[in-house]
Amino acid sequence: MDILVVAASKHSSTAEIADTIAGELESLGHVVRREPIDAAGIGGADAVVLGSAVYMSRWMAPARDFAERHRAALATLPTWVFSVGLAGAEADEPEKVEARIVEAIDPVGTATFPGRLDPTLLNLRERSVTRLTRAAEGDQRDWDAVKTWARLIDTELSEHLATSG
Ligand SMILES: Cc1cc2nc3c(=O)[nH]c(=O)nc-3n(C[C@H](O)[C@H](O)[C@H](O)COP(=O)(O)O)c2cc1C
Repeated sequence: MDILVVAASKHSSTAEIADTIAGELESLGHVVRREPIDAAGIGGADAVVLGSAVYMSRWMAPARDFAERHRAALATLPTWVFSVGLAGAEADEPEKVEARIVEAIDPVGTATFPGRLDPTLLNLRERSVTRLTRAAEGDQRDWDAVKTWARLIDTELSEHLATSG
C-alpha cells in the first residue's frame, strides 16, 4: 500500500516519531511517503497517517491546515491520527484537542504519545510557559509504543481493505 505520513513538529520530537512510524510501515512492506506537511499532497495515497505536536492544548497550525486542505480525501481514505504532548495524557488525545478535525476525518485509529521537552531547544517565551506549567523536562518518547502503533496501523489497514471490499 502507498501510505502518506505527515506530521507538524516545531522542535523535531514529533517529526522523529513520524519517521519511526514511517520506517516501521516500510519494514512491513508498504511504500511510504514521509513528506513535509506544508508541501504534501495526497497524491495516490491509499492511506494517511497525520500527527501533530500539542502546543497550548491545540495541534500546530500546519496539521490543522493540512486537515482542512485535504478534508474530503481524508474523510474517504483510511486515516490514522496522533498527538504528541508532554505526558501523552488523555488531555492531549486528538479527540480532545481537535474534536472537529477528528470528527471530520473519522479516523480508523488515534494515538497519543509522550514527547520531549528540552529546555535548550526552547525560546524564552516557550521556556517561561513550560516553567509556569511545571512541565517535566526530558525525552519521554516510548519508541516501543510508537512501533507497536505502526504495526497496529498495518493490521487495521488490512482489515479495513478486507471489509471495504
Ligand atoms: C510552549 C509550550 C507549550 C506546550 N503546550 C503543551 C500542551 O498544551 N499540552 C501538552 O501535552 N504538551 C505541551 N507541550 C509539550 C510539547 O507538546 C512537547 O514538548 C512535544 O514533544 C513537542 O513536539 P515537537 O518537538 O515536535 O515540537 C508544550 C511545549 C511547549 C514548549
